[in-house]
Amino acid sequence: MSETERSTEGMVDYGKNSAMQQQLVNYHAERIRDLVQRLGLVQPELRIVDYGCGPGQSAIDAVAPAVEAYRARFADATVSVCHADQPGNDWNSLFQLISSPRGYAAPGIRTAAAIGSFYGQMVANNSVDLGTCFMASHWLSHAVHLDAPGSVWFGDLRGAARVELAARAQSDWKQFLQCRARELRSGGCLLVSCLGAVPQVGEINGQAASGRGVYRAMQKVAQELADEGWIKESVLDRFVFGVWFMTDDEARAPLETDPVLKQAFDIEDISVVPAPYNPTDVYADYIDDPDEYARLYVGYIRGFAHSALSTQLFTPGAKNGRDGPEIAAEFYRRLHEHYRSQPGKYAGENWYLTVVLRKT
Ligand SMILES: C[S@@+](CC[C@H](N)C(=O)[O-])C[C@H]1O[C@@H](n2cnc3c(N)ncnc32)[C@H](O)[C@@H]1O
Repeated sequence: MSETERSTEGMVDYGKNSAMQQQLVNYHAERIRDLVQRLGLVQPELRIVDYGCGPGQSAIDAVAPAVEAYRARFADATVSVCHADQPGNDWNSLFQLISSPRGYAAPGIRTAAAIGSFYGQMVANNSVDLGTCFMASHWLSHAVHLDAPGSVWFGDLRGAARVELAARAQSDWKQFLQCRARELRSGGCLLVSCLGAVPQVGEINGQAASGRGVYRAMQKVAQELADEGWIKESVLDRFVFGVWFMTDDEARAPLETDPVLKQAFDIEDISVVPAPYNPTDVYADYIDDPDEYARLYVGYIRGFAHSALSTQLFTPGAKNGRDGPEIAAEFYRRLHEHYRSQPGKYAGENWYLTVVLRKT
């Protein structure tokens, strides 16, 4: 698979635009501590893997509560931390951060990286005591090209396109879990949390999924650019972000139906709840300052969407002598204008999906 065929590759300006991701990680700090306390003393060392770690502070915050909770009980015990992500992750920034005052580096704590895809095996069989994965597993294994005019986002797909992507998302999730089932040792635990969806009567496909306003704003601007001859309609009609935000039932399904997974894991929790802070508009605190509100939304969108947009839509779809960067600049300019002129209309709502499993 080429880099551009991955659903994500090297998210941009991650540190600046990841407040939302960091909130989710910090929301789970207490649960991480609790899981580690329940593991007790682990021989020969406590082995933690954070899958889809990213390059920033949230990769530290995912691990620090586990290390602190463990060392509080077993002061000299060795801990091994493995940060797992794709080759394009900004590994230099991450490793600098780990040994900075904001990191967790200390004697007796070993740090490593595993580089690859979490849809394949990333570490050895039976080698993980605590696996975490935050804001990452909603990215599918491959870029998506479907016959899907009218939506760049799974939530608004209809008919065969929706069915096809739903099947792909279920198969990816099953594969993710099967890999973790091999990697976790018996008694080890897995905490996965990312964006989710909830049933909602009257909504397209009967579900309200996180970020619906944000994706609909992107669809609107992309359609404007196609209508005005900036990008090829034929490319837009086949472009869909490679994400799927599951409901609790979707997350539970393979754990109850796949014989391997059913045997491998006990379910401790599978739930979807509104984000604890500003669940209906991530940047509600700035709504009275439309320029700042728009700036924050565009920065946030660029952070997670730019690589997919530029490699799968702007560059291959460029027409009339324009190039990808020029189209990107116009896309973000228009997006900014929509957020600035109509604050609240395309608000980003968030629901958190949390899955906690224990390996049997
Ligand atoms: C939004 S970032 C989240 C980073 C961090 N966990 C956090 O909560 O802030 C998503 C991360 O998942 C990684 N990712 C996406 N798909 C992946 C895959 N198939 N295998 C490994 N990492 C993946 C991306 O490279 C990116 O670093």
